[in-house]
Amino acid sequence: MITAGKTVLVTGANRGIGKVLVEEALKRGAKRVYAGTRQPLSHPDERVTPVALDVTDAAHIQAAVEQVESVDLLINNAGIVAYDDLTDPAVLDQMLAVNFYGVRDVTQAFLPKLIESEGAIATNISLNALAPFPVVASYSVSKAAAFNLMQSLRAILAPRGVSVHAILTGLVDTDMSAGFDIEKAPPELVAHSIFDGIEKGDEEIFPDPMSEPFADGWRNGSSKGLERQSAAMYAQFTQQG
Ligand SMILES: NC(=O)c1ccc[n+]([C@@H]2O[C@H](COP(=O)([O-])OP(=O)(O)OC[C@H]3O[C@@H](n4cnc5c(N)ncnc54)[C@H](OP(=O)(O)O)[C@@H]3O)[C@@H](O)[C@H]2O)c1
Repeated sequence: MITAGKTVLVTGANRGIGKVLVEEALKRGAKRVYAGTRQPLSHPDERVTPVALDVTDAAHIQAAVEQVESVDLLINNAGIVAYDDLTDPAVLDQMLAVNFYGVRDVTQAFLPKLIESEGAIATNISLNALAPFPVVASYSVSKAAAFNLMQSLRAILAPRGVSVHAILTGLVDTDMSAGFDIEKAPPELVAHSIFDGIEKGDEEIFPDPMSEPFADGWRNGSSKGLERQSAAMYAQFTQQG
């Protein structure tokens, strides 16, 4: 997947990492960038087309599918966080609604277009999908669920020519991480590394100094080995079926 000349859709595109993902796509020569936001957006570059897209709103998703002519790269970036200790079940529901069901619903809705373009899905997950950060326990659960979803979609969509990338982001300097007073990566660097990872075809992308040290261990580890083995069994199973 080379970004130049391609059409990209980014959710949560008005601020934080999503905003700079839009800029990075433009820098790399994207033909068109659909910027999904909950609030109206204007952008000086005529290649940017705003799309009203609350990822928890089925009517928004349907309207976005109708508005977007074609898409080569879907970046599921919209997300929310909350500090919690799992005592209030409503917090887990909120996290799942955006970080898991939002990702699932937007991805499912755009699948026909992604299959048509033999495109790519990249989901901004979190390093917390690999091991929870208990200060944001429900958030971690929702990100682990989204990661698992991407692993299945990777195997299911491989025969249709769609690649699936999971972005295992560490701490980035945005509104979301404002409560953490430790070193954070600049969003611009993260957006650059995300596009590098997509263009290289990395299944998991570790786009910042906090996540990068886990890349080799993940890629050569037993969990990734099990994912590959399960994907091979799935391919064999579906061919026989
Ligand atoms: N920052 C970090 O340290 C960090 C680390 C790991 C992973 N991530 C992941 O990176 C992604 C982007 O995070 P960020 O740091 O850029 O956060 P952010 O600055 O808080 O921005 C979050 C974005 O998501 C949008 N959003 C929230 N709920 C939405 C909904 N229901 N529908 C559509 N858009 C919605 C927000 O839109 P509004 O402006 O309308 O609220 C905003 O554009 C998230 O998935 C996050 O989990 C971030």
